[in-house]
Amino acid sequence: MTSREIRRQFLDFFASKEHKIIPSAPIVAKSDPTLMFINSGMAPLKDYFLGNQQPPSRRIADTQKCLRVTGKHNDLEDVGRDGYHHTMFEMLGNWSFGDYFKKEAIRWSWELLTEVYKLPKDQLYVSVFAGDEKEGLPFDQEAFDEWKKYIAEDRILAFGKKENFWEMGEQGPCGPCSEIHVDLRSEAERQAKDGKQLVNADDPNVIEVWNNVFMQFNRRADGRLDELPAKSVDTGMGFERLCRAVQGASSNYDTDLWKPLIGFLESFSEIKYTGTYPEVDANWSMTDIAMRVVADHLRAVSFTIADGELPSNTGAGYVIRRILRRAVRYYYSFLNLREPVMYRMCPILAEEFSDVFPELKSQVDFVVKVILEEEKSFLRTLESGLKRIDALDLVNNTVDGKQAFELYDTFGFPSTLPA
Ligand code: ALA
Repeated sequence: MTSREIRRQFLDFFASKEHKIIPSAPIVAKSDPTLMFINSGMAPLKDYFLGNQQPPSRRIADTQKCLRVTGKHNDLEDVGRDGYHHTMFEMLGNWSFGDYFKKEAIRWSWELLTEVYKLPKDQLYVSVFAGDEKEGLPFDQEAFDEWKKYIAEDRILAFGKKENFWEMGEQGPCGPCSEIHVDLRSEAERQAKDGKQLVNADDPNVIEVWNNVFMQFNRRADGRLDELPAKSVDTGMGFERLCRAVQGASSNYDTDLWKPLIGFLESFSEIKYTGTYPEVDANWSMTDIAMRVVADHLRAVSFTIADGELPSNTGAGYVIRRILRRAVRYYYSFLNLREPVMYRMCPILAEEFSDVFPELKSQVDFVVKVILEEEKSFLRTLESGLKRIDALDLVNNTVDGKQAFELYDTFGFPSTLPA
């Protein structure tokens, strides 16, 4: 199945279960003061969970553009180093607003993964919330009992608040959740070590693919939990990970979603992409990381600009500028490229997503111009900054605080972004 088919199957499946399919909201969270960017499929739907607004239907599904670079959900530092974190990603989601609850959500997620996508049942594990004494929350017996209908009991694992109680941010809708993990190791590795021990253990091949949140509470600013007016369901499936699992690829970057971008970088830099990762390959290569970072950041920057956020020196625009500069730093330092690159990749991306996010294709000339200007100006800054660093002779000298902050500002080290 191609990624387009995989996305379509998800939406068709939930349409057949009477869900209204809606378009992705813009990636920039303009109307939510608690967020800079949409960080999950449910974020644009928050008011429906809180009961502040009526949803257009009590059952909704979509694929939402998300960006996880600030605040509670921030994956920036993992990007490029592993094969399954991204700044911008698509989250496939189905929602019930006071309609179905755990029973249907669990049944449908199992049906879709095993019957439509045909993921092998013996490579799947599920988790349920173990409860939390301090918050006064019990073990999720209901989810456990529902899962028992489909999967052996020893594949249903209980985890605490960190893994199995999902919260949108410091405030907002939240609830216990149940995740589905897939073991994508080789047959021999699976025989040698039980995958159960690797769930939630940062193994690059045993990864969470879908989260089913049972929205029951609203976290208040003072930290207390209020019951929501209705019990709802919020699910999120990482589309890039799903494509990897369905296509049997060894990482997200080896799926048809990323190949055109990585392929472009290979031919433009004349460096071969070898698909190595620091956590698994002793001979991993920095050029592989750089290609993944540039491809990832190009997506984040292009979609965000197309959704109306221009690079700037404040707020969300500053974050976009920093992400773009981070990519330039990587291609300049590790791919030896001295001229703008990303603006050339943007039309490839626009074409690839023309069916699902046509807003990029329809504005591609504008987005290309903005990226090109940013790349040109930062490449100039980089050249002059590097000369200044050389002049400082850091091997023999130390720099004072002021100079250190100036360097930080020029290069964006460390690359963590403001919350
Ligand atoms: N909102 C849930 C998540 O982002 C589904 O994981």
